[in-house]
Amino acid sequence: MYICICHGVTDNKIKHAVENGAVTMKLLAQELKVGSQCGKCCKCTKRVLNNKLIEIVEESPVAA
Ligand code: FES
Repeated sequence: MYICICHGVTDNKIKHAVENGAVTMKLLAQELKVGSQCGKCCKCTKRVLNNKLIEIVEESPVAA
């Protein structure tokens, strides 16, 4: 699903970037340019970022 129309960024692209270390909105903006034009995708991007971070923590062996 497209999250950022201005830059053609999908939720999968965001999740992949988070897995590779872009764990803040600033880093995601630097890597994918999300939120850097009209800004309408910021709220949605944040939700995808937070859900992915929760998923990573829950999958971590330390959390188990
Ligand atoms: S929709 Fe992402 S910057 Fe416009």
